[in-house]
Amino acid sequence: MKYFSSNKELLSHIKNKSIKKIGLVPTMGSLHLGHISLIEKAIIENELVIISIFINPTQFENNLDLKKYPKNLEKDLKMLNKFSKSIIIYVPEVSDIYSEGVVANKYFFGSIEDIMEGKQRKGHFQGVATIVEKLLMLFKPNNAYFGEKDFQQLQIIRNLVVQKKIKTKIIGCKIIREENGLALSSRNKLLDEHHIKLAPILYQTLKETQKLKNKLSPNEIIKYVEKKISFFPSLTLEYFIIADEKSLSPINNFNINKKIRTFIAVKFGKIRLIDNLRF
Ligand code: PAF
Repeated sequence: MKYFSSNKELLSHIKNKSIKKIGLVPTMGSLHLGHISLIEKAIIENELVIISIFINPTQFENNLDLKKYPKNLEKDLKMLNKFSKSIIIYVPEVSDIYSEGVVANKYFFGSIEDIMEGKQRKGHFQGVATIVEKLLMLFKPNNAYFGEKDFQQLQIIRNLVVQKKIKTKIIGCKIIREENGLALSSRNKLLDEHHIKLAPILYQTLKETQKLKNKLSPNEIIKYVEKKISFFPSLTLEYFIIADEKSLSPINNFNINKKIRTFIAVKFGKIRLIDNLRF
């Protein structure tokens, strides 16, 4: 399996191969079937797929969160082995990406950054945009793949490529779930036994609110969710929002001709999980 820690070496390896279509799947490792679904789609749609595995320091709010982020490179490489003919793996050191200091660039995304994850995790999307822009500029992929679980991130990245006139097509891929509905996430591994059992409540709640939309207003549904989560002493609801999918602005009524999505973030003890669902 081709594996590079230097972007220069990776680029010189692919330079003379006249590859027509390159796909990029940026990841922070700790791979699960959600990532694998992005990789499989990318392999079908491109001649070569670059998978980056890099825990990007500038998107973490603090060092503790960064240190806690699960890593298991050996296991990741094993999972990727079966794709070895179609992929190249890029696992850089921090200095290979941030040669001029570990700082995020400055972007203006307006209201799509100010709510939900952007509000809870200050600077998070500035860091995400920085690493994604760097990867897109380095490898100039035709297509780049991101999961819809991080739906706000996906909208930020769509906005980024428009702002920066980057030609890469940004492809959002559907959420992969456990049988019990829990969206796959690297952070699920950090849950204790008690919270693993409770975690499907995220998806159950989103599904339940879909059924309430003919009976209750958006505000009443929000109150319902707040009450429901408050029954569990070790859970904290960070947000539940019913929003226009494109602008991510919360809506006040359902009589609008827009695609609507619900978004939820809950802390299970110290671990926060997010999910979303088309309404
Ligand atoms: O979604 C993620 O895993 C990360 O935010 C990304 C897009 C790989 C950037 O570090």
